[in-house]
Amino acid sequence: MSVQNFDFCNPTRIIFGKETIQRLNDLIPQDAKVLIIIGGGSVRKNGTLSEVETALGKRHFDVFEGIEANPTFETSMQAVEKIRHDNFNFVLGVGGGSVMDATKFIAGAVKYSGDTWEIITSKGKKVNQVIPFGFVPTLPATGSEMNTNAVISRKTTFDKIGIANPLFSPLFSVIDPTKTYSLPERQVANGVADAFVHVMEQYLTYSVHAAVQDRFAEGLLLTLIEEGPKTLKNPQDYESRANFIWAATMALNGLIGAGVPQDWATHMIGHELTILYGIDHGRTLSILLPSLLNEMRKEKREKLIQYGRRVWGLQGSDEEKIIDEAIAKTRTFFESIGIKTHLKEYDVDSSAVEKVVEQLKRHNLTALGENGDITLEVSRRIVEASL
Ligand code: NZQ
Ligand code: ZN
Repeated sequence: MSVQNFDFCNPTRIIFGKETIQRLNDLIPQDAKVLIIIGGGSVRKNGTLSEVETALGKRHFDVFEGIEANPTFETSMQAVEKIRHDNFNFVLGVGGGSVMDATKFIAGAVKYSGDTWEIITSKGKKVNQVIPFGFVPTLPATGSEMNTNAVISRKTTFDKIGIANPLFSPLFSVIDPTKTYSLPERQVANGVADAFVHVMEQYLTYSVHAAVQDRFAEGLLLTLIEEGPKTLKNPQDYESRANFIWAATMALNGLIGAGVPQDWATHMIGHELTILYGIDHGRTLSILLPSLLNEMRKEKREKLIQYGRRVWGLQGSDEEKIIDEAIAKTRTFFESIGIKTHLKEYDVDSSAVEKVVEQLKRHNLTALGENGDITLEVSRRIVEASL
């Protein structure tokens, strides 16, 4: 089997480094009317917002505050109303993945003439216009700063749904690593785990002899394994923080996924755990991935061995042992950065199994994985093994 055909284009401009926020002045048109979108206030407290406001200078702007973690359709629609009412023509998301994802949805919904919930039910396909938008990311994790995806929730109906559209590529992202120093340890750990699992879901499938994609993926995993613990220990060490941030961006910007099979089952099942139990995104992935790898060890055999040898340096000819150790090391890595990897440690009991399966069924997620063979029955076993 050889590498699949692909069409790779990433138009997002990245401005990276210390004291780069002032560059917004060159990136946003002088006559733009800008709505800044923020979350619960972290960017006010750590000074990022005031730097952004200074960079905008004499431009007309206002701030929409209140995008929640796991951003909701309802709150995002309030921003849409404000933009329509006050005629803003540029949106600037300043915050983590939730703010960036909400901004993408908002930029598409403003121009959408039908019922905006259709954007979600069509998984983003119905968006055919956006108003221009860019980002000042403050949390390395999702890769939203350089990709075409967003995840939007509606709590009343227990929906957390991924949407994607080439129009969701931000025009630019201005990444100043020092603006992430204020992150609590829990969010940094979540970010390391999220980025790690993004790489795994594009890498740990079956081999198509994509040497470049594989080596890039392994390089990102090794970087996260080395730099993640360092940046947790010394949050203000610029080198390790900058390396971690760039790894997280590269983990999900299309590069390592070009032409290779992908398995997003951990994310899909994880989204159901977040909407049902409020468990942080990165944590749901750390709970599920080891169980999923074990459940699919036959199908993923060749790649599990490659991962064990190249990423964890495992040796010897006993291949079953290498697979067991590679999975165990993955779990130990998440635990070493302070993430518990069993549902019971989040006060979730076995009643979760049926609830998650019901949700997957309702969302038509009945044939997940690179081969479409993670059926509801297999997902059930994965959740059971994660208790
Ligand atoms: O809301 P504020 O006050 O800003 O606080 C946030 C929030 O409480 C805080 N935070 C962010 N930057 C900070 C900071 N606190 C101190 N200092 C800073 N510099 O961190 C908390 C979590 O923020 P959030 O944006 O929710 O986290 P994350 O970046 O992990 O985003 C998670 C969301 O992204 C989705 C997830 O499903 C989830 O909804 N994903 C998006 C993807 C994409 N667009 O490609 C892919 C991912 O797989 C993921 O599914
Ligand atoms: Zn993720």
